[in-house]
Amino acid sequence: MDNVTTKELSARSVADYFMDEDEIGEIQSFYMSFQRLMSYYKCAIMEIETKFKVLDEQFSTMHERNPIDNIRTRLKSVQSIRDKLIRKDLPLTIDSIEENLSDVAGVRVICPFIDDVYFLANCLIGQDDVKLLKMKDYIQTTKPNGYRSLHLIVEIPIFLQEEKRDMKVEVQLRTIAMESWANLEHRLRYKKDLDEGTMHEISDALNDCARLSDVLDKKMQEAKNIIET
Ligand code: GTP
Ligand code: MG
Repeated sequence: MDNVTTKELSARSVADYFMDEDEIGEIQSFYMSFQRLMSYYKCAIMEIETKFKVLDEQFSTMHERNPIDNIRTRLKSVQSIRDKLIRKDLPLTIDSIEENLSDVAGVRVICPFIDDVYFLANCLIGQDDVKLLKMKDYIQTTKPNGYRSLHLIVEIPIFLQEEKRDMKVEVQLRTIAMESWANLEHRLRYKKDLDEGTMHEISDALNDCARLSDVLDKKMQEAKNIIET
C-alpha cells in the first residue's frame, strides 16, 4: 500500500470517528464521573484492607500467629460492570452502578483456619463505621456445587476533602482449602468445548474435592484446638 492511500485512509477514519463537540463533551464528562466513582471504590478497598491488616497485626502480637494468610483485592472491570448491568436489565448510568452493584469493590481474605474466618468477620462488622448490608454464609450452607466461603456486603465511609461518602464493598472470607477449591472450580467452569460426559466427570470430581476440603478444614481446626488447649 503506498503512502497516498494510507493518508487517505487515516483521513477517512478520523472523519468517521470524530463526533460533534456536544457528543465529545458528553463522553468526556461521563468518563470523568466514572473514573471518580472508581477512585472512591479504590479508597473503600484501601480502608477495608487496612482494617484487616490492623486486626492481623494485633492478633499476631497476642497469639503469635496470623489469622490472615493473604488478602487480595480487585476493582470490577468496566467490561464486567457493563455486562452485569445489561444482564440484570439495569440502566447503564453512573448512579445505577452505585445503587445496584455491590461488588465493584472486592476484598478477599484468606485464612488458615475456619475459626479465623468468623473471628475476622465478627471483628469487622463490630466496628462502628462498618455497616453490614448482607451476609451469605456458604460455609454453613455449602452451595450445591461445593462452593464454601463467607460473603459480606458492607458499607464504609471514605473521607474526601470536603465530603464523606458511604461505599459498598464485597468481602469474601475463606480458608486456604476453600480458596484452592474455588480457584480450580473457576478455571474448569470456563473450559470450553468439553462434552457432557466430561462435564459430569469434572463436576463429580469437584464435588469430591469439596467434601475432602471440608474435612481437611475441620480436621485442621480440631488439631489446632487440641494444640491450644
Ligand atoms: P454475582 O455472581 O457477583 O452476581 O453475585 P451473587 O449475587 O450471585 O452473589 P454471591 O455472593 O453468590 O457470589 C459472589 C461472588 O462469589 C462471585 O462473583 C464469585 O467471586 C464468588 N462465587 C460465588 N459462587 C461461586 C462458585 O460457585 N464458585 C466460585 N469459584 N466462586 C463463586
Ligand atoms: Mg460478583
